[in-house]
Amino acid sequence: MPADSQSDNFDRFHIEPQLLRERAFNLRWATVDPDVIPLTAADPDFPVAHEIRQAIAAHAAEGVLGYGPTEGFDGFRAAVARMLSSRSVSARPDQILATDGAASALWAACRAVLGPGDEALTFDPIDFLLPHCSEQAGATVVRCPLERGTWVIAEGALEQRITEHTRAILLCNPHNPTGRVLRVDELRRIGDLAIAHDLVIINDEVWADIILGDVEMTSIASLSPEIAERTITVSGFSKSYGLAGLRIGFIHSGSESLCRRVLEASGAPRTTFGASVLSQVAAQAALEHCDSWLAGFLDHLRQMRTMAVARLDALPGVCCRAPEGTYLLFPDIRKTGFDAQALAQRLHDEARVAVVPGLMEWFGPGAEGHLRLSFATTEQILDEALTRIEKMLVGG
Ligand SMILES: Cc1ncc(COP(=O)(O)O)c(C=O)c1O
Repeated sequence: MPADSQSDNFDRFHIEPQLLRERAFNLRWATVDPDVIPLTAADPDFPVAHEIRQAIAAHAAEGVLGYGPTEGFDGFRAAVARMLSSRSVSARPDQILATDGAASALWAACRAVLGPGDEALTFDPIDFLLPHCSEQAGATVVRCPLERGTWVIAEGALEQRITEHTRAILLCNPHNPTGRVLRVDELRRIGDLAIAHDLVIINDEVWADIILGDVEMTSIASLSPEIAERTITVSGFSKSYGLAGLRIGFIHSGSESLCRRVLEASGAPRTTFGASVLSQVAAQAALEHCDSWLAGFLDHLRQMRTMAVARLDALPGVCCRAPEGTYLLFPDIRKTGFDAQALAQRLHDEARVAVVPGLMEWFGPGAEGHLRLSFATTEQILDEALTRIEKMLVGG
């Protein structure tokens, strides 16, 4: 199917506002007033691919829904290993653990390698889940500031923050909230530091499919066997395939010892946690049958990105760069004269558009002066939201 008609599908897929208002939670349609447009949590408005719905229905229709294997279905683990191999990560199915979401995968990865007295090194800004899961494991979080605006990791900045207590480096690539895709040289530097200081790398790649710019996505575990063996890669299916409500993700561990520790920390062996079997079936279908759906989604996102960046960047006091990956915008709003919380509140109260303010609790101190907006919606909704924002900021 040519890209144009796939993109067309995303408007023809017309979203179901009533269903979203009943079912889309976590800061989204079901949690806001009926006249508010939520460009908040990063979860697409579109219904999931037909192939995924069919796979769930077919599996459920057979009627056997007992416990699955502890680490996940063979088919699921093999599909994940193939997908990682396509990113040049040397991954075998027995190194994959199915989890109930990327967040849960992060939680297990952190518990596997961190404990009280340990330091977890991560970036600022960064999605709250990485520091949160590190703290839940008992570790102290050390944030390495990214350079404002470009969001690159300054030469030497990470190294300076490594102490005898540092146990892990946590990264998110592509990066939430800035939308930046880490470059090979940065990843190599992180990998080399991890080797030199005997650290584990916990790498969140939940956004890896959503590459919109002219950049290449590199998995840090693909760089060398020495880096791979100390890397835990976590990911999920919420961002690329809209399966957030199915709570499905996975962990790939680069060594046998990490596999064992992660499995033990996950709670799966004693059935206290684990991925739902229907969710694994859905995720496997996503990986095996939805390439064309995903291509159409990306094509649509590229068009939304162009529109949203141009219109936000034209607003007085707003500087909005195009994200290379993710469907998140992270405009700098400092020159509007408002702080992030105040502007988000005004946008909510006056423009009736909900966004995520760049607060410590969401992204760390480095997010101040920024808002985060998701553009994974229809052109019509995004256009309406942008028009309201423009009227508020330009119309006064
Ligand atoms: C960086 C990052 N990791 C993890 C998650 C959570 O993914 P999941 O829904 O699979 O738990 C998100 C969701 O926004 C995210 O942005």
